[in-house]
Amino acid sequence: MTPVSKPNYHSPIQASAESISAPLAQLLFASAEALAAVQAGRSLTQALGLVNLSLRSGVQALTYYAMRHWGLASALRDWAVKKPLENPITRELIALSLLLLDVSMQKNESAEPASPQSPYLDQAPLYGAHTLVDQSVQAARMVRGGQKPVGLEAQAKLVNAVLRRFQRERPQFLAAVKEDPLATYAFPLWWQQKLKKQYPAQYVEIMHASRLPPQLTLRVNRRRATQQEVVSAFIEKGYTAQAISEWAIMVQGGGAIERMPGYEQGWWSVQDLGAQFAAPQLKLKSGMRVLDACAAPGGKAAHILEIANVDLTAVDLSAARLERVQESLTRLGLDGDNVTILPANILKPDAWWNGVPFDAILADLPCSGSGVVKHHPDILWLRRQEDVANLAKQQRHMLDALWPLLKPSGHLLFVTCSIFTEEGERQIEQFLSRWPDAKRCDATGILLPQSPMGEGQPGHDGFYYALLERQA
Ligand SMILES: C[S@@+](CC[C@H](N)C(=O)[O-])C[C@H]1O[C@@H](n2cnc3c(N)ncnc32)[C@H](O)[C@@H]1O
Repeated sequence: MTPVSKPNYHSPIQASAESISAPLAQLLFASAEALAAVQAGRSLTQALGLVNLSLRSGVQALTYYAMRHWGLASALRDWAVKKPLENPITRELIALSLLLLDVSMQKNESAEPASPQSPYLDQAPLYGAHTLVDQSVQAARMVRGGQKPVGLEAQAKLVNAVLRRFQRERPQFLAAVKEDPLATYAFPLWWQQKLKKQYPAQYVEIMHASRLPPQLTLRVNRRRATQQEVVSAFIEKGYTAQAISEWAIMVQGGGAIERMPGYEQGWWSVQDLGAQFAAPQLKLKSGMRVLDACAAPGGKAAHILEIANVDLTAVDLSAARLERVQESLTRLGLDGDNVTILPANILKPDAWWNGVPFDAILADLPCSGSGVVKHHPDILWLRRQEDVANLAKQQRHMLDALWPLLKPSGHLLFVTCSIFTEEGERQIEQFLSRWPDAKRCDATGILLPQSPMGEGQPGHDGFYYALLERQA
């Protein structure tokens, strides 16, 4: 096994002023820089990886919140600043600071009217308005790498002018963006239209649920601990924890995942409740040959191995991501001789398959991620409309490549973390019309993202699940 460094997991973001203790100007600058990187096409995870460690958790809190409300932030900025801003960091700094100033004025000064982020204020980072304006102006004077760009002072003046104007004219700003659906729902317009067409009765609730931060949900490794042992270990350390399904535990209380009780011992893994629906639907029995066709980072592969003593082949195109599979199977005590981890392309089985058919295949395929906005709000601003059709086409080719690898009477579970029908129901209808030996079995189908619903209901991401049996 190749040694790898530990993944840098953090529990879900519940930003609060207390959690953000670094100097605010530095946090704002580093956050604006990360937001500019997302606008340039980088994922927030990648952008955060470049942030100085001392600032990272504060920047993470600010940027995750900002991405969930970026429609409002950018609409306020674009209304106030009509001419194009050349410096991308100043551009995002103004949007971020306007968003935070709107929080501050609502929370500290009970300002009227409400804004589109009003229902989410209890998750919002809170600063005093005066501090925020002052520190945003300081942030506009910061530069990376030493060389001061021309016009830096002019940018600081612009930031000062826009934020002070917002303080004076907040109602006018809000009135100007009131009819803008981007500001209201913070989903790109093409995405809103698609949801409205595909889920006319639920689309507003879907967007709302997707903008609430996730609760921390764990899956217990029943080979190492019982649910009760895990719950007790958390409670003993001062967390709130409760069992919420056969495998899942919901935990409240912050801190680094690696320092939580039972992590080192492999008692549990972090996994969204919706993702925990996958492995149990595969009808696993000991001795089966199982293929996890797109295995990395390995959450569902580990669940398969926790359920039954199967022979598992875990394939993924990315050797780097497969290192995370290996690492988590080792931590969980699941990396026996029954597991083969294989960097390979599932579109080309001739290059890696030995010709012995599988009893079960998990096809958790690459997708738009439209169901997991809760955990990855940057997806909203990274994804392009044309990506959905391209990904659906890729999924079709992958399903066609995998189907002949399945034994007669075997089962293939198709999974995407998308709620777009092109990557769900429509994909499967088309598959069934191409493959007459495929029969659809009972499965979860569409699982829409859900908000936490009080005690013992952590909410979950959105997924699509279809189970197919190969007819003899
Ligand atoms: C949705 S993720 C899988 C998540 C994983 N099942 C889990 O539960 O942790 C999709 C994976 O497909 C992999 N992938 C993309 N194209 C592939 C290909 N042609 N062959 C094999 N794996 C591929 C990606 O590297 C990515 O890790």
